Parts: sequence; structure tokens; C-alpha cells
Amino acid sequence: MDFPIFHLDFFGNRLLIAVIATIHVLINHSLAVGFLPVVTLIEYRGYKCRLIGLSELEKWDELAYKFLYFAFVVTTSVGALTGVGIWFSAALISPAAIGSLIRVFFFAWFVEWIVFMLEVIFIMIYFLTWKKSNENLQKKKNHIRAGLALSIFSWLTMAIIVGILGFMMNSGNWFESQSLINGFTNPMYLPQLAFRTPMAFVMGGAVAFSLTFFYLKNDVDFKSKVLKNLSFWMFIWTPHVLIAGLFYYFQIPELMKLNIPVAVATQQFQDWYDTLLYFLLAAVFVSMMFTVFAAFKPKRIPPFTAVLLVIITFLTLGMFERIREFVRKPYVIENYMYSNQIRVNEYEMLGKQGILLHSTYTEIPAVTQESILIAGKNVFDITCSRCHTNNGVNSVVRKFEVLFSPNKEPLDKERMKDYIPVMDKGRYYMPPFPGNREEIDALVEYICYIQFKNVYSPGAQVNGINVSPLHLNERKDN
Ligand code: HEC
Repeated sequence: MDFPIFHLDFFGNRLLIAVIATIHVLINHSLAVGFLPVVTLIEYRGYKCRLIGLSELEKWDELAYKFLYFAFVVTTSVGALTGVGIWFSAALISPAAIGSLIRVFFFAWFVEWIVFMLEVIFIMIYFLTWKKSNENLQKKKNHIRAGLALSIFSWLTMAIIVGILGFMMNSGNWFESQSLINGFTNPMYLPQLAFRTPMAFVMGGAVAFSLTFFYLKNDVDFKSKVLKNLSFWMFIWTPHVLIAGLFYYFQIPELMKLNIPVAVATQQFQDWYDTLLYFLLAAVFVSMMFTVFAAFKPKRIPPFTAVLLVIITFLTLGMFERIREFVRKPYVIENYMYSNQIRVNEYEMLGKQGILLHSTYTEIPAVTQESILIAGKNVFDITCSRCHTNNGVNSVVRKFEVLFSPNKEPLDKERMKDYIPVMDKGRYYMPPFPGNREEIDALVEYICYIQFKNVYSPGAQVNGINVSPLHLNERKDN
């Protein structure tokens, strides 16, 4: 409404954010937050060997450097690109939501930027001064301190972002005093942070475990020693994943009760929710057994099981992320703004006066008989296009066909007109329709018009920006 509408009509907007964000969170947790402390500890291990005069020191140091090389390349390329990509894509797709979050988390946004820059600076220092740090003990000591600082700043970037993610799920008592502190102390913050931290440590351990097979193919004795150490690391953190995971898990139903007005629709959620618990228990069990076995019989661990462990940890985090997205709908910010970018408290007015009238970026400010299709397209763009496409992924046409015309007969306009005003009742993940009666009619006309036409309708990035004639006049008046 207040921003030009970016839209990917084949792929869908949701998928774009989901792909970028999933890649990012997996890389961030497994290779930054969880992995960098492991690298620093291994380097420290080498340093200790040097202190007591053990010849192993170089092996530890070399391995830690190889690990860091891998993390450095991946995190500063794909990791950084997807990290920036999340903000670019989210700001284009949901600008109003990002705007609201900046209002609440203004200082957090600013501090996050500084913390992120420091993280990048520390990884540069840590990586680029590694060779030099082997010149003497003092240099090595300082270098390890840089690794420690890097680990802390990686964790801090996550700790800030998680505040915002938690707020989007449950804004807590923010409405009462509307402060930054209130935003951060939302009920989902601690459970998420408590879960993500050990989860990342186990993921980092699992990645290091796999890489050890790759880097230390021939040195069997040293390899066993490293695997033992890494098993120990994962063994310590896995129970924390379980405890914090359960803590997080049991917070979710409270949230669902808040967000879901109707009980009929909870089935799909319930399935996910149950699966999540079993998955968590199974993953923790497998991880514990694996680490115990690997600690005692490192030589008997086949390399593919290490990769399997990485996959299990990635899936566990992925399940939690899926549930997080699931629980948040139909809101983008709980109780405050729906995923279609419209604020809850705007609904009453928009329902009476219409969304087109109040949109800055629309071709047409009201529905007229002559321009009903153009109006319908604009209503679709504003109210449905954050989640649906015309004929691509999660196509609105296909969704209506499944409901009302399974044999692809022309859609029944009357049934659609009855459905749209109550669409949020059966499918709680969809926001209520925000506009007025004429806008529903126009939307239905448009959807029926495109039912048998393969029209793709990309957003403002291709079609150009349309400013509502009402707003153009306003600009001239000023
Ligand atoms: C917040 C995202 C979101 C918005 C906004 C949204 N939808 Fe949906 N809609 C969904 C999802 C997700 C599904 C289910 C997809 C699936 O089948 O897995 C869905 C399903 C549907 C269905 C099929 C429902 C059923 O019972 O099977 C229809 C019809 C539909 N949407 C129409 C619309 C229309 C019309 C609009 C705009 C006025 C709209 N949606 C806006 C997310 C959204």
C-alpha cells in the first residue's frame, strides 16, 4: 500500500526469502556461531602443546587453520551475501514490516551493524595474521584472543537478531510501554537464544567432525585424537539442545492459542508440532549415542556417518525454523501487522473505505465497472501477492480450483465471493480480507479472468511504478 509492490510471479515471494534465509541461517549457525569457537579451541590446544613441549603442536595448529580457511571462504562469500540478501529481499517484499521493526528496534539495528562490522574485521584479522602468529608465543596468545573475540561477536550478531525474530512471533507486553527493552524481553527471546546457542555449537562440532575426515585422511592416530575431542564437545552441548529445545517447544502452544482464533485449522499445525518433538528427541538420542561411540572407538567411525550427523543437525534446526514461520502467520509482526503488510488497526477503516483509496501505489483508487479488471489486479497485488502468484508457485487460481472446481471448470464467482470475506476462518494462516465489497468483486473478476490465461504479472521491478492518481494530485497541490 505505502510502497511499490515487488513481486515474483513465477517463484513467489515467500520462496525467495525462504531460500535465502535458510541458506543463511544454516551457514551462520554451523560455520560462524558454532564453528569459530571450535577453531579457536583447537588452536588453543596447539598452543598448550607448545607450552609443554609436545611435538603435536603443529598438527593442531595446521588443522585449525584449515578449518578456518573453509569457514572464512564460505562465511565471507555465501554467508555474507545471503545475510545481506535477507535484508534486501525482505525490505523489497515486506517493506512496511521492516519499517515497523526498525521503529521498535532502532538502536538494535544500529548496534547490529557495528557488531557485524566488528565480526568481519575480526575474521579478517584472525585469518590473515595466522601465519605470522606462529612466530612467537606472545603473538600466538594474542591471535587466540582475536579468535575468542571473533567467536563472541559472531554470537552477538545472532543474539541481537533473535530478539527481533522473537518479537515477530510474540510481541509480548510491548503494547503496554512500547520500549526497545520491552521489544527484546518478548517471551520467545530467551527460549530461542537458549536453543540456538547450543544447537549452533553442536552443528559446528558436526561440521568439524566431517572436515576432519577430509583433512586428516592418512594420519590415523592424530585423527582419532581430534575426533575424540570433537565428540566430547558435541557431547557436552547436546543435552543443552534438548533442554532448551523443550523449553522452546512448550512455549509454542501458548503462542498458537493467541494466534489461532479457530480450532478447526490446527490439525496441520498439530502434525508438525508433534513431529517436531519426536524429531528433537530422536536427533538428540542419535547425537548422544554417536558421540559416545566416537569418543571410545574413533577409528571405527565411517566417514559417511559424520556427514549424516551434519544432516541431522541441519534438519533439526530447519524443523524449528519451519515451525517458527508457521506459528507467526497470519501475522508478520504478532498482533500488530499481517503478512499482507496491513496493520491490524487499519482493518476497520479499510473495510469501510477500501484499500485502493488508501494505497499510494495503485493504478486506480476505486473500483469502477469499466476498470474492474485493473482494480482486481491491484487488489490482488496488495492483499494476496505476498503469498500467492497468479499461475506460479502457490497460484491463487489453482487454490480456488482445488476448492471449487476440481475438474477445472470455470470458477464459480458467487462461491468465491462468499469465501473471501471468511477466508481467514478456515485457513488461519491467511489474514482476513482487508478491503470492501466492491474490491472483493473486482478481485474475483480478476482471478476468473486469469484462470485460463497464462498471464504472468511481475511486480513494479518489471512493470514500473504506478502512483495512485489521488496521490499524484496531492503532490501537485503541495
Ligand atoms: C500470509 C500469506 C497469505 C496471504 C496474504 C493470502 N494467502 Fe491464501 N493461502 C496461503 C497459504 C500458505 C495457503 C495454503 C497453501 C497450501 O495449500 O499449502 C493458502 C491457501 C489459499 C486458498 C485455498 C484454501 C483452502 O482451503 O484450501 C485460497 C482460496 C486462497 N489462499 C486465497 C487467497 C486470496 C484470495 C488471498 C488474497 C485476498 C490470499 N489467499 C492471501 C497464504 C496466504
